[in-house]
Amino acid sequence: MNDYIDHVPVLLQPVLDALLPAERLIDGTLGAGGHTGAMLAAGAAEVLGLDADASALALARRNLAQWGDRVHFAHSSYVDMQAAAHQIGWTHVDGILLDLGLSSMQLDQPERGFAFRYDAPLDMRFNPDGDRPTAAELVNYLDAEELADIFYQYGEERHSRRIASAIVRQRPIHTTRALAELVKQVAPRHKSDKIHPATRIFQALRIAVNDELATLERALPIAIDLLRPGGRLAVISFHSLEDRIVKQTFKLASTDCICPPEVPVCICDHEATVRLVNRKPVEADAAEVADNPRSRSAKLRIVEKLDDLE
Ligand SMILES: C[S@@+](CC[C@H](N)C(=O)[O-])C[C@H]1O[C@@H](n2cnc3c(N)ncnc32)[C@H](O)[C@@H]1O
Repeated sequence: MNDYIDHVPVLLQPVLDALLPAERLIDGTLGAGGHTGAMLAAGAAEVLGLDADASALALARRNLAQWGDRVHFAHSSYVDMQAAAHQIGWTHVDGILLDLGLSSMQLDQPERGFAFRYDAPLDMRFNPDGDRPTAAELVNYLDAEELADIFYQYGEERHSRRIASAIVRQRPIHTTRALAELVKQVAPRHKSDKIHPATRIFQALRIAVNDELATLERALPIAIDLLRPGGRLAVISFHSLEDRIVKQTFKLASTDCICPPEVPVCICDHEATVRLVNRKPVEADAAEVADNPRSRSAKLRIVEKLDDLE
């Protein structure tokens, strides 16, 4: 029995409604393969599943074994989805899913350093074989201002400077517990705070370690390019900064002229490549939130590639 297998796919029915029927799909964030298994069961002919994390991929291989060669696996960042698709002879696909962030399996693997409920080295890389720095390297080598910026921007932490200065005074810091304890001492929990004060700091470090926002920003236009006319891209985000990137990229890609309003005649020649399927993001209903608290902050946005592109 493997207790990592029960990652519950978020917004599953809305994702299936958005992407199916389809022949060829890409799941850019395969995880345990929950969405992919459901997409195959719902009639997708083939799915190419990517994950930056080799251990997630190994788990997905086991969970999806019943689908045989209808599922293809690539140990790759979703930003490289085009190369992975070309490798199996696909130039265009009917749909792409990105379900961002980390999975419950990763949170439950103490040695990954994502969770402070376990004591472990501060790692937090989705791909421990890649070339990104670990969280320990950021914590121990960045200066106080750089650390404070990370905590403020990616964690919306109001005590960012105080926490960063304390880290710089007390380092080296190598473990999740040591960091969580330090944060607790310098930024005590407010009565109104429902979460441990280290939660925002861990989230911010994870986003920085994996360069998550820049990766998303680069990947969305690549994904749109890969869609056939009428194909769809569905993105589930869990963080307001991610959702903002998805929203703005989709808005730009679905707009023809982007000249400033004071320009009398269009000079930009910008043309929409997609249409918005939903103006407001799809969110989990009360039943799903009760069943899977992780779905509380999930936002699903969907675009469809236009078919009258020249
Ligand atoms: C929320 S989980 C996906 C869960 C999956 N939808 C399921 O139903 O099992 C996100 C996954 O994306 C992976 N991931 C994060 N950033 C990635 C990236 N840039 N490229 C590929 N995979 C990434 C993580 O390793 C994790 O396994």
